[in-house]
Amino acid sequence: MDYIPAMMRWIHLMAGVMWIGLLYYFNFVQVAALKAAAADNNAAGITKHVAPRALFFFRWAALVTWLAGAALLGKYFVAAFTLQHDHAVIGVGAWLGTIMLLNVWGLIWPNQKKVLGLKPATDEQKNKARRIAFLASRTNTMLSIPLLFFMAAGAHPGIYGF
Ligand code: HEM
Repeated sequence: MDYIPAMMRWIHLMAGVMWIGLLYYFNFVQVAALKAAAADNNAAGITKHVAPRALFFFRWAALVTWLAGAALLGKYFVAAFTLQHDHAVIGVGAWLGTIMLLNVWGLIWPNQKKVLGLKPATDEQKNKARRIAFLASRTNTMLSIPLLFFMAAGAHPGIYGF
């Protein structure tokens, strides 16, 4: 039976690398690349072929990361999310990951669908959606920094002195 937590940790790490990896790709590469490509009049290559594929793996990796993380918490799920003493550190990380997941499925994906023309929208609606998706994605990039700190601190109690 011990291999289940081991499998969950492995899946959690793989899905987490995919999620955060694509989050950093969007924020550190694609935003600037799209601006430059639009100036060259060839943004369609990114918006039609790259972004939809990246968003597919991004949103499903986010969900798998959360589910595997919750499975890793197991019987300490409530203790972690209620920040009870021994589980408060991983609990803070779990809350940050949960806010990031809600941002992905509640703000980034629904608005990106409008921006990429996967859902009908007027130009005004597209501009508003582009702004919301951009701010939610930037927020997740910032949240990923303390999240990874609390994941490591939660998995290795005492390494940071608490
Ligand atoms: C962006 C989201 C997340 C990423 C990238 C992430 C990444 C990681 C990493 C790298 C570790 C291993 C730390 C180590 O062993 O040094 C870890 C551990 C852990 N994560 Fe996450 N995590 C995320 C979200 C979550 C969420 C939402 C939960 C709970 C619902 C969670 C629960 C856990 C648990 C319980 C551990 C500790 C496992 C242990 O005891 O070794 N994680 N996470």
